[in-house]
Amino acid sequence: MTPYQSILTTIAKEIATTPITGKVASYIPELAKIPSSKFGMHLYCTNAGHYNIGHQNERFSIQSISKVFSFTLAMSLLGDELFTRIDIEPSGNPFNSLVQLEYENGIPRNPFINAGALLIADVLVSEFSNPKKELLDFIRKITSNDTIAINQQVFESEMAFNHRNAALLNLMKAFGNIRNDIDTVLDLYTFQCAIEMCCKELATAFMLYANGGKLLHNNEQIITETTTKRINAVMQTCGFYDEAGEFSFRVGLPGKSGVGGGIAAIHPGHYAVSVWSPPLNPKGNSELGMYALERLTSLTGLSVF
Ligand code: DON
Repeated sequence: MTPYQSILTTIAKEIATTPITGKVASYIPELAKIPSSKFGMHLYCTNAGHYNIGHQNERFSIQSISKVFSFTLAMSLLGDELFTRIDIEPSGNPFNSLVQLEYENGIPRNPFINAGALLIADVLVSEFSNPKKELLDFIRKITSNDTIAINQQVFESEMAFNHRNAALLNLMKAFGNIRNDIDTVLDLYTFQCAIEMCCKELATAFMLYANGGKLLHNNEQIITETTTKRINAVMQTCGFYDEAGEFSFRVGLPGKSGVGGGIAAIHPGHYAVSVWSPPLNPKGNSELGMYALERLTSLTGLSVF
């Protein structure tokens, strides 16, 4: 059997001596308070259980990783109809860019850039009477953990500096692609980004995508195999914004990052993994998180390629 725990220990030792050049996100002031030395990793294998290292039980702001959960709900609700309002192509642009949205007539390139996730939030506002509760309930169900919640300080901190996301929403509204009140949609989007989870909880949630849309512990089918395949494909091609190619090249897994320093990734049929290290590289992805996952797929020989 692959010696998962000793591989994680090797990675932790390497991380301890790797110089950090990245910077903890500061455009959301509350995130800047998190120590850059935090590092945790949790590996959850379909047939070999849990392995972990570091601060893997400490919750952090999942930020854009939440876009996978909201996209999952929107796909389940609308199916292919969703893709009349949003595309599924890599953007090659920064996560919060406005440029492409203007010349592509308010149709976001994909659900994982901010424009796309804001559009998805608009869908959830239209479809649910209490979208915040539905989103939290979904995450709580797939993790079997009712304590998952938001960090109110992070929510308020981002709300106070949300001008770019408000601009994206206004631009899409001008093109007729946002159906609800802008403040309501912005509130839901900022709420979902302020959800806190630890590495263990994220790996458990992402097991859904590694396990064909079924919960591992009781085989309950939560989303169809087709929906799962499609979400994983979008994670592979768009999960890391203008660094999606680099992540595929170095790590070789579908995954999603967040500016809280988290990354969750999967190897379908094999494992879900989550890593947390707050300093971000210039593309807004966890610098050491990417390194740790690259080492994981190299040392285990288990990537999708
Ligand atoms: O909207 C924002 O800017 C943040 N709430 C989320 C951005 C994010 O996590 C980008 N990911 N790496």
